[in-house]
Amino acid sequence: MPSTFPAPAPDLHVAIIMDGNGRWAIERGLPRTAGHRAGVEVVRRVVEAAPDLGVSVLTLYAFSTANWRRPTGEVRELLGLLREYLSSQAPQCVARGVRLSVIGRRDRLPAPLAAAIGTAETATAAGGTLHLRLALDYSARDVILRAARNGAAAGTLTLPAFERLLAEAEGGPGPVPPVDLLIRPGGEQRLSDFLLWESAFAELVFTDTLWPDFGAADLAAAVREFRGRERRFGGLSGRAAS
Ligand code: FPP
Repeated sequence: MPSTFPAPAPDLHVAIIMDGNGRWAIERGLPRTAGHRAGVEVVRRVVEAAPDLGVSVLTLYAFSTANWRRPTGEVRELLGLLREYLSSQAPQCVARGVRLSVIGRRDRLPAPLAAAIGTAETATAAGGTLHLRLALDYSARDVILRAARNGAAAGTLTLPAFERLLAEAEGGPGPVPPVDLLIRPGGEQRLSDFLLWESAFAELVFTDTLWPDFGAADLAAAVREFRGRERRFGGLSGRAAS
């Protein structure tokens, strides 16, 4: 890691389901894809704000395996935006110490997008301020299933060993800590097949704000709410235990 980067901040893993782009666009009489384009701007702002809020891993749900069911034009536009983002933002990421990686299946992505992922991952590999993970053609159930298939051959399986298999099946650079805080803007309150295993003890924050209207202040508010909660991991609160 270049020595000019600040040390990673207090280590929160925040995951975000970026929802509401389509509705944001329709409300303005625009095509849904305009909402996705506006959503990319928010990604830039949130990535910039995250390190100062103590976030060291940020996983964004950019394209789910279920999203292949959308009209071809919308899928093409979304994948194009992702490619554009990777190519244009990789230098910014390097400058800010952001390591960029992708989780999910890569074998069904268009070749230019797969190539842009590889290039961005290589260019940003030394980033130590924030690990930005984009979930692309991602399905948590699919990852768990593939890890289980690989684990079946291994005989007796421990939790740490299974988590290594999960990280492998995820297709990213390796294990990251479990999700601390999962945020879903857009008014819906569901997980939509995102990081199901990793969010076992995550705190959930749902907000009605549509993703294109989300900003650094909303991220800060969610982190504040998280910090105000007591995490018991199945145990007792400090007061009840004493
Ligand atoms: C869900 O909103 C959002 C998506 C399926 C795509 C999210 C993608 C982006 C924000 C842009 C690209 C991302 C990066 C990382 C550069 P929706 O369209 O389902 O919203 P709706 O529920 O209002 O229809």
